[in-house]
Amino acid sequence: MKEINIRDIKESAVKMISDDWALLSAGNENSFNTMTVSWGGIGELWGKDVAFVFVRPQRYTKEFIDREGMMTLSFFGGEYKKEMGFCGKNSGRDFDKCKETGLTPEFSDGTVYIKEAKHVLILKTLAVTEMTPDSFLDKEIEPSCYPNKDYHIVYIAEIVKTLEK
Ligand SMILES: Cc1cc2nc3c(=O)[nH]c(=O)nc-3n(C[C@H](O)[C@H](O)[C@H](O)COP(=O)(O)O)c2cc1C
Repeated sequence: MKEINIRDIKESAVKMISDDWALLSAGNENSFNTMTVSWGGIGELWGKDVAFVFVRPQRYTKEFIDREGMMTLSFFGGEYKKEMGFCGKNSGRDFDKCKETGLTPEFSDGTVYIKEAKHVLILKTLAVTEMTPDSFLDKEIEPSCYPNKDYHIVYIAEIVKTLEK
């Protein structure tokens, strides 16, 4: 992996997260977890390059994100969908996801990412906020996306490093 400027990634950011998915990981050598995400974004806030991720409260990965204040997004350019399918259907409470999928954790910058990734964003949490029932102006969102009232926690994180294979 070599460090690059986020602006030098050629792929569409929408395709990278929405179509190709990503693994959101947090933790350290002693304990870590990873989960699949396809909702989120990359942009600018408060004069910094940032990524936004949306994590439901029951995700095990959330415990590691909150504990560490650091997390990573690993992007695979459309590959590793089977492995990401596993990581998006099963909880780290029940499985060692890297062991089950053959994906390799790489520990760097006080956090963990997935070695097989094409691009990695190393992220430091700047702010955390929650979606609430009164957040929604479009009244179709709540019944379709939150029948269990498990509103997303929004993490706004600074992109401290961008890595490319
Ligand atoms: C394609 C795909 C995209 C997903 N996107 C998100 C997401 O953006 N936010 C979220 O909270 N869960 C998302 N999930 C669900 C989590 O990945 C899933 O619940 C996972 O098992 C959580 O693992 P954990 O309990 O080990 O953290 C997605 C699942 C899939 C398959």
